[in-house]
Amino acid sequence: MANNRNSRLKDAAFKRFLCVVLVTMLGVSLLIVSLRTNTTPASNGLDEDLSEPIDIQSFSEKLNLPKQNEFSIRLEKQNRLPPRNIDLYPKLAKDHITIVLYVHNRPQYLQVVVKSLSKVVGISETLLIVSHDGYFEEMNNIVEGIKFCQVKQIFAPYSPHVFTDSFPGVSPNDCKEKDDRWKKPCIGNPDQYGNHRSPKIVSLKHHWWWMMNTVWDGLQETRGHDGHILFIEEDHFIYPNAYRNLQLLVSLKPNKCPDCYAANLAPCDVNSRGEGWDSLIAERMGNVGYAFNRTVWRKIHRKAKEFCFFDDYNWDITMWATVYPSFGLGPVYTLRGPRTSAVHFGKCGLHQGQGQSNACIDNGLVNLQVDDIDKVANIRSEWDVHVYHNQPGYKAGFKGWGGWGDDRDRLLCLNFAQMYHSCSTSSAVMN
Ligand SMILES: *[C@@H]1O[C@H](CO)[C@@H](O)[C@H](O)[C@H]1NC(C)=O
Repeated sequence: MANNRNSRLKDAAFKRFLCVVLVTMLGVSLLIVSLRTNTTPASNGLDEDLSEPIDIQSFSEKLNLPKQNEFSIRLEKQNRLPPRNIDLYPKLAKDHITIVLYVHNRPQYLQVVVKSLSKVVGISETLLIVSHDGYFEEMNNIVEGIKFCQVKQIFAPYSPHVFTDSFPGVSPNDCKEKDDRWKKPCIGNPDQYGNHRSPKIVSLKHHWWWMMNTVWDGLQETRGHDGHILFIEEDHFIYPNAYRNLQLLVSLKPNKCPDCYAANLAPCDVNSRGEGWDSLIAERMGNVGYAFNRTVWRKIHRKAKEFCFFDDYNWDITMWATVYPSFGLGPVYTLRGPRTSAVHFGKCGLHQGQGQSNACIDNGLVNLQVDDIDKVANIRSEWDVHVYHNQPGYKAGFKGWGGWGDDRDRLLCLNFAQMYHSCSTSSAVMN
């Protein structure tokens, strides 16, 4: 026993030592890389001043992240640039709710979202973070045009879209579709339905998880934020009253719904615009315009294994079927108003002919009606809460839609959960 403990202690000391050595080595090599890349002219628009100190915290001895190419390294450096528009909005409001908008490559959608955000009352009080899956000029141009609040752009450096011939992108020896590894030697594990990974499909869940970890635990601007963070997507139309309503929901939540984990801008049924009642609603967590605080994030983060090993490529279904049920206290509720303040307008065209419940996008215009009541906060603090019990939806026991069977994806996902945590003793010293 004693022997055992002794060797464990030695083990720990050795690990710490290794950690310090590796951190130093990484620091030096990053320095060399940054010196080198700073002297070569940039060809892809990433030519802003990157002479920032190196963030040593993002390294750990346990990490086994894929080898980065030059472009990936550049993106990671770009992520350390300070927000734009600090000259216009030098101070964030004391109790601001940070907004994170995560996007891929649908510029005509992003245009609509950004235009809707420009009309949101109170938006200038907060910081907008745009998290990109892949690097696309058209998307950047839209974000660079934002003048209505502080904006910070971040890019997922391990996005499959950033790697052209190696994991997390496609590598030459990867198994494809229903390849049989025993008949034709190739790399990869099939999912529960026999299909091999598709980088385009896995990128969504990777991006969401990378973004969550980075926003809560990585970014200098937000890792100390102790309020709520609101998450929206590139195909969510945001009503002018969204921010003020959200502030009300967040302030009412502790009293009106102490069991609610989050606040939502929209009903969890994406086709509903709300009931229009004089009442607050508590229901299962939705995936449009959800906001929660760091306490909830810590709970989610503790379930990294559940999240990363569940064979479904959808982040939201993964949350509903494994992460939330693993909290163990029945459904995970969220609080919202009786009228929606956000609408999911994507997939339009697939659901045509279903009447006015589906917004459609046409030449960059969404034919969504914004009434006067949607322009000002329309939640009353004296309202009671109506709770929906036994709602339908994905639950514990659901096996997943697949698409997430490859060990490399699962490990990359776990690495994202560790990248800002391991090695904490030495990073504390080096800070
Ligand atoms: C964060 O939200 C949860 C769920 O609503 C709540 O229980 C917790 O007290 C909140 N934490 C802080 C620090 O406000």
